[in-house]
Amino acid sequence: MSHPVGNDLLAEVKRVTEALGAEDISTEEALEQFRVRYLGSKGLVKTYMEQMRHIPAEQKREYGQVVNALKQAAEERYQSAKAELEVKAEQASTAALDLTAPGEPLPLGARHPVAITLERIIAIFERIGFAVADGPEIEHDWYNFTAMNTPEDHPARDMQDTFYVVDAPGMLLRTHTSNVQARVMTTRKPPIRIIAPGRVYRNETISARSHAQFHQVEGLYVDEGVSFADMKQTLLYFAQEMFGAPKIRLRPSFFPFTEPSAEMDIWLGTDTEENRRLTKGTGWLEILGCGMVDPQVLENCGIDSSRYSGFAFGMGIERQALRLFNIPDIRLLFENDVRLLRQFASAF
Ligand code: DAH
Repeated sequence: MSHPVGNDLLAEVKRVTEALGAEDISTEEALEQFRVRYLGSKGLVKTYMEQMRHIPAEQKREYGQVVNALKQAAEERYQSAKAELEVKAEQASTAALDLTAPGEPLPLGARHPVAITLERIIAIFERIGFAVADGPEIEHDWYNFTAMNTPEDHPARDMQDTFYVVDAPGMLLRTHTSNVQARVMTTRKPPIRIIAPGRVYRNETISARSHAQFHQVEGLYVDEGVSFADMKQTLLYFAQEMFGAPKIRLRPSFFPFTEPSAEMDIWLGTDTEENRRLTKGTGWLEILGCGMVDPQVLENCGIDSSRYSGFAFGMGIERQALRLFNIPDIRLLFENDVRLLRQFASAF
């Protein structure tokens, strides 16, 4: 038995489905209008679905299928029209692309003179088997001072005043990279052969020659039978590789963590005006502090000093960078002015 309301609606939905293919969807606006008209929340598909309740029971099944077919056809038409429009848009933008136009300049970075200097030093020591080690800049007093044989009342502490963390008693900004010696020796067994580059801090007035923050490289070699001669040969090799220096000089000095201690100068000579100025007329330029690791430091870090010995050294990087690049003022290194960095970008 057929039913007038059911028949009318069925015929209408079929007609709408067939006519859908003829819709003109050649613009973005038309696409959106199509979507609203057929698939929107008040669109035809939704409206016909709602008519289901007026359809007599025996026709519900067929009606459902017909509305579903409309929905599917509308969705397919929508997707294919959308894809076509996208292709058209892309073609239009490619047509507007001028391949002969000059490119946008890329902002080029440059390595910092301190970084370049550090990398050279690291490369030199890596060639003879030193591995890079790391330690914290915010350090516990014990690693920075006490383990390194500088207890709280030791006068050497005055030479290295620093910044203290108010809310964390015993914590400070490390004054040297020597803390890494203690960090490594308390966690590893000899043989130990490391260099430790990094930033250090001092409570100092900032001037053209010194800064409250700067960089150092530490070196440490601990094994059975390590001698002063080993140290001297290692440092001579470094001076020759780094500076092309023909010879080095070790002057007796004092550091709490080494015994004996020395300072190493390299021979620049007095031939040029610049070398006379740098060496104050002596021909010798001071580069680093060094010495045999004090047995007490080994013991502080849990290493048997009757079995092992070692040497250590530490040097500042900024002064070397200033010399290498002929930069007159240390403050320039920390101002982050890209013009300074660019100047040395291709220096090495
Ligand atoms: N830590 C010392 C400083 O900052 C430098 C130094 C001297 C490091 C002798 C050493 C060393 O490892 O053996 O002045």
